[in-house]
Amino acid sequence: MSNDIDKKFAVIGHPINHSKSPLIHQKWLDDNQIAGKYGTVDIHPDDLEKEINRLIDEGYSGFNVTLPHKETIKELCHAIDDTAQKIGAVNTVVLNNGKLSGYNTDAFGFIENIKQNLEAFKFDDKSALVLGAGGAARAALQGLVEAGVSKIYLANRTIEKAQNLKKMHADIIEVIEWDGFDYVLPKVDLLVNTTSLGMNGKNDLKINLRDLKKSAFVTDIVYTPLMTPLLTQAKDNGHDIVTGIGMLIYQAQKSFEIWNGIIPTVNQELVDRVL
Ligand code: ATR
Repeated sequence: MSNDIDKKFAVIGHPINHSKSPLIHQKWLDDNQIAGKYGTVDIHPDDLEKEINRLIDEGYSGFNVTLPHKETIKELCHAIDDTAQKIGAVNTVVLNNGKLSGYNTDAFGFIENIKQNLEAFKFDDKSALVLGAGGAARAALQGLVEAGVSKIYLANRTIEKAQNLKKMHADIIEVIEWDGFDYVLPKVDLLVNTTSLGMNGKNDLKINLRDLKKSAFVTDIVYTPLMTPLLTQAKDNGHDIVTGIGMLIYQAQKSFEIWNGIIPTVNQELVDRVL
């Protein structure tokens, strides 16, 4: 294949300058000697269709999608994969002959992060407690179900949002009260925080892990700080933990694979650079 034409990729969002995606993808393009550039494109919601047409005209091969376009981009896609359909959001687009194909790699990223860090853990027939019902929860729920988890307790401060997410997999998800989820701690094999609680500048998640099953592990999608108060408490109590940074990196890995047909390497150097 000729290497004289650079492939063009980007992450689109509004705002977008905080994104870590260019750092990750540019390193992988360079490491794999793919002549290409990965940048950021700030697109105001009113300009989405016009700007996507510009990316098509400029010969982009694909792009990642972040807030606030993850749902609205679906309307411009000619095809959407099953996972993205189920989650209701697209984070990866392939551009081919002016047509958009939409994917969602967040569920993969969430599960792959756990698999890579806890190799012995098997998801089949396990039960989980998921806290939160935003976009990250949708991806985590879909990932857990696809991985084989048979029971998910879902708690969210605004219970209506949890009830809405239950529709994704009504046979597996059971909505429980936010003020009183502790009773499931002895039963679940994993605890997942998808709320923003514990993030720098936000309140901490109020939880006492005393009753959590000893073999259960804890993961947090928050990665600023990397060791959230929840993860610190879990570690101090002897539980395995999985930090949140890997979800970002592995969703990117899957996007890269979709675009370039290569599974790029994740190593500590990359993680350190992202952090
Ligand atoms: P994302 O799409 O990244 O998941 P989000 O949609 O803003 O972000 O969701 C944030 C999650 O954190 C929600 O589950 C939110 O609960 P509500 O649905 O009740 O808003 C949860 N969250 C944020 N602040 C919270 C707080 N102080 N107490 C409890 N939950 C909180």
